[in-house]
Amino acid sequence: MRHHKLALCEIHYPEWFVAQTERAIRKYRMFGPDDRVLVAVSGGKDSLALWDVLLKLGYQADGLYIDLGIEGYSDASRDKVERFARTLRTLNVRPSVRPAPRPAARFTVVDLRAEYGETLPEVARRVRRGRGKPCSVCGLIKRHVMNRVTRDGGYDVLATGHNLDDEAAVLFGNVLHWKTGYVARQAPVLSASQEGGGLSRKVKPFCRFYERDTAAYALITGIDYIYDECPHALGATSLRYKAVLNDMEEKSPSTKLQFYLGFLRARQEGFFCEQAEEVELHPCSNCGQPTSAPDLCAFCRLWKDAVEGER
Ligand code: AMP
Ligand code: FES
Ligand code: ZN
Repeated sequence: MRHHKLALCEIHYPEWFVAQTERAIRKYRMFGPDDRVLVAVSGGKDSLALWDVLLKLGYQADGLYIDLGIEGYSDASRDKVERFARTLRTLNVRPSVRPAPRPAARFTVVDLRAEYGETLPEVARRVRRGRGKPCSVCGLIKRHVMNRVTRDGGYDVLATGHNLDDEAAVLFGNVLHWKTGYVARQAPVLSASQEGGGLSRKVKPFCRFYERDTAAYALITGIDYIYDECPHALGATSLRYKAVLNDMEEKSPSTKLQFYLGFLRARQEGFFCEQAEEVELHPCSNCGQPTSAPDLCAFCRLWKDAVEGER
């Protein structure tokens, strides 16, 4: 690992990786041993590795998979998550870390078609917001479902597998277009808010790991994950930003780490103060989640259009 100036073997690498995760959780005060954590698992290396590591550290971590019904992708990724969840019953959670044995981790699947009547590609084709860019509708759906399950399941925090490559690309894009509001809000921890019915606390314990670090952990520990990218991601701007940053990293190792950590330092020093929300949030009249719209939230409007379309 050139960027960390470390050379570790197959035994010590996973130990280093687990310990680094714990350091990040503590440094950013993400959650404690008594908190109930919901891990959003996509079937990819990052989120499965995150679930694995949190359980090894003895945290109460349950999984959530959202089946978006994307042909040739969702079935395969769901299969990876379900297989992984089955192995958890036999997982050797290190007893030395926390004394009391934890109850077995739970795993929730939200199937979009079963719960809302349509898959993501179907909704995206139907609504104006999704035409040509299903990822925008996908992001909206995932945020909504994650917030709902976190809140309704009584979880203290939602954890996602975003890694350094993801965070650096998001930061790069937001700086490039001077989306100052987004820059100010980008952080390893987003606090919960009670406003408008409640936004759950969100954390990214892997935000300081390179993508290749999480891939190495998954490979060494034998986590079977989906290699393919979602077919809708092809040509996404985030992938272009990643390519630019990869090129810079290649010529100048640690570029991404310095870019992101420098930002976090500047943030801590108060360079990016969040503007007070100008829009007032209130609960959606249908689902009760926070929205700035007068009646239904953007998520509920997606399905209302379907009902009206049938008339
Ligand atoms: P992505 O937006 O695909 O880069 O994913 C970022 C993070 O969101 C992943 O590391 C997961 O924690 C979470 N995530 C993405 N897709 C899903 C899904 N279908 N179900 C549950 N969590 C997901
Ligand atoms: Fe959401 Fe691909 S995973 S559009
Ligand atoms: Zn709603």
